[in-house]
Amino acid sequence: MSRFPFGIPNSWYVLAYSEEIPRGEVVPLEYLGRKLVAFRGENGEVSVLDAYCPHLGAHLAFGGRVEGDTLSCPFHGWRFDATGTCVDIPYASRIPARAAVKAYPCVERNGMIFVWYHARGEPPAFEVPDIAEWHDDEYIRPWVHYDWKIKSHPQDMAENGIDWPHFATVHLMRMPNHLNCDFREHTYFWSIGATKEVSTLEDTQDTLLMEGENWGLGYSFLRQRGNVRTVVAVGLTPIDGETVHLRMGVIGARNGLDEEAAREALRGYIAEHAVVATQDFDIWENKCYPADPVLCDGDGPIAEYRKWASQFY
Ligand code: FES
Ligand SMILES: [Fe+2]
Repeated sequence: MSRFPFGIPNSWYVLAYSEEIPRGEVVPLEYLGRKLVAFRGENGEVSVLDAYCPHLGAHLAFGGRVEGDTLSCPFHGWRFDATGTCVDIPYASRIPARAAVKAYPCVERNGMIFVWYHARGEPPAFEVPDIAEWHDDEYIRPWVHYDWKIKSHPQDMAENGIDWPHFATVHLMRMPNHLNCDFREHTYFWSIGATKEVSTLEDTQDTLLMEGENWGLGYSFLRQRGNVRTVVAVGLTPIDGETVHLRMGVIGARNGLDEEAAREALRGYIAEHAVVATQDFDIWENKCYPADPVLCDGDGPIAEYRKWASQFY
């Protein structure tokens, strides 16, 4: 039985960083409880399709080739366009009406490729937001990224971000200078002011402000302002109903330094973001999900969060 009573949320998910799917390449992927194929056509657009050819079932990523803006099946050469429609069968005079493979809405933004999942196949309910810093030359790019496979669920993992008291126990931050969370239609904005009790860096007792935006249950980003300014983008992409591919990408401001010096100066801060993320893993992988938890007045807005999250099923 699943540890989580949810299924896969209807959301945008980070499928890859842009550079992981170069022009003309075909990539096999396993997410959303299924096998998928992503390819980047000669026009530079990325498409995401179910992996199996509707003809006789070949996996389109194993031997499949990009031809123009289409994907050619390795088995008999049927070609599919970005919408999954078969546009050519090299040896047939007529293309059968059912010759199509399911395509998933896909966008490329902020150096990442996102796929939209909806259990009933409905179109995207909101757009993936732009991150202004991604377009700002004050920030060094591309994302320095980390990734982990976690036995958990996006809703349970994202709940962590508004679970204020755990920042003291798990992340050793002195809390709070201020806490805020504002739930909107498909998003919520939150901010935390904290003092780091223990830092992996030399400058302990560092005061910092973190401001985050969560969009749906699969994607969020936060800005950290302290001695340095960083932006952290987090993807929670379900591999299946109880396994998540956690991706964390970090960019940082140069603070007047040139590219190389800034990269060197930011190295420790960027690595520390990854350390903070790993501090939650044992809790996440071993906890249960109480549907009716006992809460106290010092807890974060857990009930509001869960009510907001229920729209994504
Ligand atoms: S299985 Fe794909 S073309 Fe035949
Ligand atoms: Fe945490």
